[in-house]
Amino acid sequence: MKKTAFLCLAGAVLAAALAGCAGQAEDTGNRPDRVSPGGVKPKLGVAIYKFSDTFMIGVKSAIKSSAKGIADYELVDSKNSQPDQNGQVDGFIAKRVDAMLVNPVDRTAAGVIIDKAQAADIPVVFLNREPLEGDMQKWDKVYYVGAQAKESGTMSGQLLADYWKAHPEADKNGDGVLQYAMLKGEPGHQDAELRTTFSIQAIEDAGIKVEKLAEDTAKWDRVKGQEKMAAFLETYGDRIEAVLANNDDMALGAIKALKAAGYFKGDKYMPVVGVDATEPAVKALKDGTMLGTVLNDAANQGKAAVMLAAVLARGEAPTRDNVGFDITDGQYIWISYKKITKDNVDEAD
Ligand code: GAL
Ligand code: CA
Repeated sequence: MKKTAFLCLAGAVLAAALAGCAGQAEDTGNRPDRVSPGGVKPKLGVAIYKFSDTFMIGVKSAIKSSAKGIADYELVDSKNSQPDQNGQVDGFIAKRVDAMLVNPVDRTAAGVIIDKAQAADIPVVFLNREPLEGDMQKWDKVYYVGAQAKESGTMSGQLLADYWKAHPEADKNGDGVLQYAMLKGEPGHQDAELRTTFSIQAIEDAGIKVEKLAEDTAKWDRVKGQEKMAAFLETYGDRIEAVLANNDDMALGAIKALKAAGYFKGDKYMPVVGVDATEPAVKALKDGTMLGTVLNDAANQGKAAVMLAAVLARGEAPTRDNVGFDITDGQYIWISYKKITKDNVDEAD
C-alpha cells in the first residue's frame, strides 16, 4: 500500500480533522512539528482555478513557501471547473477552515462563494481573478489580491510603441500605420479584456496609428497561441507588423509559429510582446525572440494572499503592519507590474 494511502486510512478516524485525505488535496501545510509554542496555526482552505496554468504554478509555489510557519493549509486543484470549485469550497466550510483563499474559475461565480462564506462566517480572499465590484461589496470579510490589469495593458503597449519609434523599418509596408495581431486570454477575465484594450490605447497615446488585422482568444494557452498565430499568418502573412499577447504562454506559442514561418532568421523579425515574465519568457527575451513582457509578480501576489488570509484567520483586522502590504479601499491589495526587456531581465524575479 502506498504511504499516503496508508496514512489516509490510518487517519480515517480523525478524517474530519485532517486535511489531505479528501482525495482532492495535492498538498497540506499540516506539520505538527512547526506548530508555534503558544498555540495552533490557523488553517486555510486554498483553491486554485487550474494547477497546470504556468503563471499560477508560480503563485502556488509562493503560497506554499509563504505559509511555512504561519498557517496550515489544504490546497486543491479546481481543474478549470466552477462546479468542482464550489464543491471544494463546501468541503472547506464543512471542515471549518479559518479562512479561504480562492482563485475562482469564473470570476462571476465569486458572489455564490461569498454567500457561502458569509453564512459560515469564514473570511475569503480572492486571488488573480477579480470578483465584480457588486460582489465585493456583499460582505466586509471579502478581499482581493491581484494586479491592476489596466497597468499591464498600458505597459505592454508602451513596450511596443518604444520599439516602433526606434525602428522605422518595423513599418514593413511603409504606410505609417502599425498593423497588429492580438492574442487574447480567456474572454471575460479582467486581464484579457483590459490588457487588450489598454495595450492598444497606450500605442495610440504614443501618437501611433494602428490597424487591427487579427484578434482571437487562445485562452492563456501556449499550444492554442501557436495554432491561432499560424492561422493569422496563413491569412495575413507578412502584412502583420507586430503581435501582442495577453500573456507569455500565448506569446511563446506565437513565436513558435513565427519560427516555423521563417521568422527570427536573418533579418526576418517580428516584435512579440507578452505579460507575466515567466521563466521560459525570460529565456525568449534573452535569445531575442520575445521583444518584451510585463512582470506579473507571482511571488508577492502569493505572499500577500497568504499573509492576509492568515491575519483574517486569526480574527484580526488587516493592516499594513500585520499583513506587510497596503490595503486599498478596505478590501484590495494591489501588486505592481514592471516592464521587462532584454536590458533588465535580472529584475524579473
Ligand atoms: C493572468 C496571467 C495569465 C493566467 C491568468 C489566469 O494574470 O497573466 O497568464 O495565468 O492570470 O487567471
Ligand atoms: Ca504598416
